[in-house]
Amino acid sequence: MSTELSQPAEDPSAATILVVDDESYVRTIICRWLSEGGYRSAQAGSAAAALEYLQQHEVELVTLDISLPGRSGADVLPEIKQRWPDTEVVVLTALGEAKLAIEMFTRGAYAYLVKPVDPGDMLFRVKKGLERRRLVLENRRYTRDLEDKVRKQTATIRRAHEETILRLVNASRYRDEETGAHIKRTGLYSECFAQVLGWPADQVENIRMAAPMHDVGKIGIPDAILQKPGKLTRDEFEIIKTHTTIGAKMLAGSESAMLQMAHDIALGHHERWDGKGYPQGLAQSAIPEAARIVALVDVYDALTHDRIYQAALPENEALAIMEEGRGSHFDPFLFAIFFSLLPQMRRIAAENPDQPVQDYARRQRLPVPLSSSSLEAAESPAAV
Ligand SMILES: [Fe+2]
Ligand SMILES: [Fe+2]
Repeated sequence: MSTELSQPAEDPSAATILVVDDESYVRTIICRWLSEGGYRSAQAGSAAAALEYLQQHEVELVTLDISLPGRSGADVLPEIKQRWPDTEVVVLTALGEAKLAIEMFTRGAYAYLVKPVDPGDMLFRVKKGLERRRLVLENRRYTRDLEDKVRKQTATIRRAHEETILRLVNASRYRDEETGAHIKRTGLYSECFAQVLGWPADQVENIRMAAPMHDVGKIGIPDAILQKPGKLTRDEFEIIKTHTTIGAKMLAGSESAMLQMAHDIALGHHERWDGKGYPQGLAQSAIPEAARIVALVDVYDALTHDRIYQAALPENEALAIMEEGRGSHFDPFLFAIFFSLLPQMRRIAAENPDQPVQDYARRQRLPVPLSSSSLEAAESPAAV
């Protein structure tokens, strides 16, 4: 039996009720009552016709008979609730068994009325069903709005957090040869690395913010050493090395996962895969992965950009020098990934170039030869 829309109520925003019953006179009576109650209604004489109508129209509530030709109302009820969970269902049936009523409620019915139905009672149940639907929808919208607001505020807080960190890092670099662009690039390279390694999204974001803090401990190194032109004495280099432990102390004890990662990076970015690094002489996987990543990208960026003690090397020369550190200085697995990431790293470098020379103008550039046979020059003092 096909569906038909019966006389729409005057209010165009009035709810639409689908009356499903195999007896046409019952449908007609119910539709008349609904119309008098201010609702629009449509009719369906079978479960199939009801599903067809629901598929093509927005229906707020269904009155559902149980005894129908073909699929019964009891059978089609769960499908209606599953496909249109916001449509309320009032069961109208001649079968007045408590067991059946309970079954209908468990299948998702909002109300259960036994024929003959009193029109006032039916309209009251319809009204209450529609009220419940409105509340559920309002509640869902409210929750969605709230979630949206929380998401936006979290993003704002994160941005403020990140800006605070960058400003702190900037404060430390005023006394150092590091450029703001180097700091930013280190974060972006590390982010790229973590993504390829399949880190969870929040940790990827954490390393982008944490990596720029790798040298924050330099704030505790005396100017006379940090800004000394030329080669450092052994004792001076020992002091420079403490920028790792100073940075770690500055960043220790935070509840923030990002700052905990920053601590690990500050402490571990001069450790070496073979255990000959500093400050703890950790080896292999005892060095936190984030610190092993930053060790690689920091040296790469230092070698391929102008520094106080050396002009930028062509990338192939920088890579040749770094290659010597594969498996000794650098984690060999990460080193292989590092090579596959070079196109992205070049793009990051091109998009974040160093500012023209004012970053370097404070100090005289001294020619310190970079040994192509070792990474020492990249390590000391320019890349500490
Ligand atoms: Fe650095
Ligand atoms: Fe360092």
